[in-house]
Amino acid sequence: MRVSITDRCDLRCRYCMPDGCEKVPMSHILTYEEIIRICRAAARLGISRIKITGGEPFVRLGCTDLMKKLKALDGIEEVTVTTNGQQLENYIDELKDIGIDGINISLDTLDPGKFEYITGRGQLEKTLRGIELAAASGIKTKINVLPQKGFNEDELADLAGLAGKYGIDVRFIELMPVGAASAENGISNPYILKMLRERWPDLESDPETRGNGPAVYYKSKSLKGDIGFISAMHGKFCEYCNRVRLTSQGQLKPCLSYDSGTDLVPYLKGSDDELMEALRGAIMKKPEAHCFDKTETDGDDHAEHRLMSQIGG
Ligand code: GTP
Ligand code: 5AD
Ligand code: SF4
Repeated sequence: MRVSITDRCDLRCRYCMPDGCEKVPMSHILTYEEIIRICRAAARLGISRIKITGGEPFVRLGCTDLMKKLKALDGIEEVTVTTNGQQLENYIDELKDIGIDGINISLDTLDPGKFEYITGRGQLEKTLRGIELAAASGIKTKINVLPQKGFNEDELADLAGLAGKYGIDVRFIELMPVGAASAENGISNPYILKMLRERWPDLESDPETRGNGPAVYYKSKSLKGDIGFISAMHGKFCEYCNRVRLTSQGQLKPCLSYDSGTDLVPYLKGSDDELMEALRGAIMKKPEAHCFDKTETDGDDHAEHRLMSQIGG
């Protein structure tokens, strides 16, 4: 289960929230106690892996304490986090101490000026320091790259090269038409693989499944880390999708691409059994597939209109 703990972020990525986020009052955001209660109910239903997302998780005070408590829940085997890496250097020791199971860090360019442009206000060296520390900490670390036409096409092989430099996995994600992003600006993963093979001709698919997400991996003898592809647009993986998302305001979304979901807030007033039933019902509403390739969605199905930061990335 992906759990967004805040829709706020210290960045303003152009494909996510170029105009910033609406300030949702804290009273509308689930408290840590409520998040723990929902995760406990989810664990009783058999969910064993939790990914903490945002917005940016590290803008919310006390987030590492929450991660520690989630790790201690019966049935929870793994707690991981996805971050923009801007504040990672301040948190890496705590993350190691609590035994976080994985850190995914977003990085779309190695050029400081382009980094500031795409993130609105970010500093490349901070994210790079975070990556270096995470890689050295022994925590399973991955880099997420969003390839975008006319922005980072010429840098994708250099970004993939970080798999060699740090010995961690670098993953390319196809841009999904959510929030401010338009699918036409994305680059297809088959094209990227072809391009990367010009530098690493021995890149071969690794049949072993890894991680909890939809990524598929390729290996080269000259890269210590692997190259992953999350082909949300060109390789529909919905058939195998086993994940649900909890937004920071308490909606359980069975699919990223639709705006529908179950508001769990009213059930927080009831018993644990009622909460579990609501969760079960929400999970059973999982659609067959995403609606990114439909021009119109039917009936009660509406495409997600919120920003990626509001639905948990
Ligand atoms: P791990 O294997 O645990 O690292 O999970 P992950 O790959 O889901 O992690 P991460 O949070 O870094 O997500 C990477 C990208 O995959 C993000 O852009 C997500 O939006 C995308 N993604 C993750 N889950 C789904 C999903 O269920 N559907 C779609 N379409 N995209 C997803
Ligand atoms: N399509 C695909 N991935 C996206 N992300 C943000 N917006 C989009 C989008 N429109 C990625 C971020 C981060 C992950 C959680 O989601 O780059 O790595
Ligand atoms: Fe923040 Fe991630 Fe959105 Fe960028 S993509 S603005 S880092 S939530």
